[in-house]
Amino acid sequence: MIMKKTILTGIRPTGNLHFGHYFGATSNWVKLQEDYECFFEIADVQALTDNFNNPEKVRKNVYELTIDLLSVGIDPKKAHLFIQSKIPEIAELTVFYSNLVTMARLYRNPTVKTEIAQKKALFGNDGESVTYGFVGYPISQAADITALGGTIVPVGEDQLPLIEQCREIVRKFNSIYGVTLTEPEHLLSPTPRIKGLDGKEKMGKSLGNALYLNDSSEIVQQKIMNAVTDPQKIRKDDPANPDICMVYYYHKLINNPNLETVCKECKNGTRGCVACKKELIQKIEDFLSPIRDKRKYYEDHPEEVQTILEEGTKEAKIRAEETMKKVKASMKIDY
Ligand code: TRP
Repeated sequence: MIMKKTILTGIRPTGNLHFGHYFGATSNWVKLQEDYECFFEIADVQALTDNFNNPEKVRKNVYELTIDLLSVGIDPKKAHLFIQSKIPEIAELTVFYSNLVTMARLYRNPTVKTEIAQKKALFGNDGESVTYGFVGYPISQAADITALGGTIVPVGEDQLPLIEQCREIVRKFNSIYGVTLTEPEHLLSPTPRIKGLDGKEKMGKSLGNALYLNDSSEIVQQKIMNAVTDPQKIRKDDPANPDICMVYYYHKLINNPNLETVCKECKNGTRGCVACKKELIQKIEDFLSPIRDKRKYYEDHPEEVQTILEEGTKEAKIRAEETMKKVKASMKIDY
């Protein structure tokens, strides 16, 4: 029997899934679960690194996110969904790995560096409020990956420095304690980054430009009607440039079979923005319809969601215990 390779990736439970998550990450996870042994982690401990003072938010979003993931097609018969904090081996590994990483190396991690700069800008301080837990989260993420024996890690570009740091930790561990762990490889998301409704390069909750998978029809309508179009197009029959229009961008993203016509009519001025937006709203509604049905099902069956998480976590725990045994033996702490 050929063993399937193990995929491990995670997501922070800090909000619902939006189109950026879906097209940039989770739609790919749905495909990967067909060919790999997949562990999808609800990273509640990591979410707490910068939401430690808001535990209710993290708690609520663990369930919200699980339902979102099930609604888009993560299949509990094929993949394991688990909660990070339920695997104490991850926390234990984090402690062991922290001896192998210098402070300078953590501060040099580009992902951490960018996030610290954002916090400084946001809170207007000199970074004194940056915690040990936050700066150290790449170590905890390396523990996530290796505890589960993940050899392939699907991520977006912004996460690449964290995978590289994990590989360094593995190499260092193996060179000191003997070959125990496997270096993981990243698998870059096929769709890089999804733009926001306002045309910004990134869709994000904090940017206020996101379209959520659980948005109601009214909200979808409101958001699309306000989406940014070519500012040069004033009247309905002005020709416009679809390449700078978010409505066209979303027609493309959602795979509208009518795309060529949309483009042609936009360029030659035979398509008004209102009609174009209405067509897009309909396409989005069609796309969301099965996702909404599944969400409704899981909302009506919370006990099933709970069982799915428990079973996924049970599998994850078995893996993590195996890793822990090997790690402790190598570190000579297997008393
Ligand atoms: N840091 C990732 C993010 O913010 C989430 C994450 C947690 C993760 N644990 C992981 C990603 C392990 C890959 C592997 O998107």
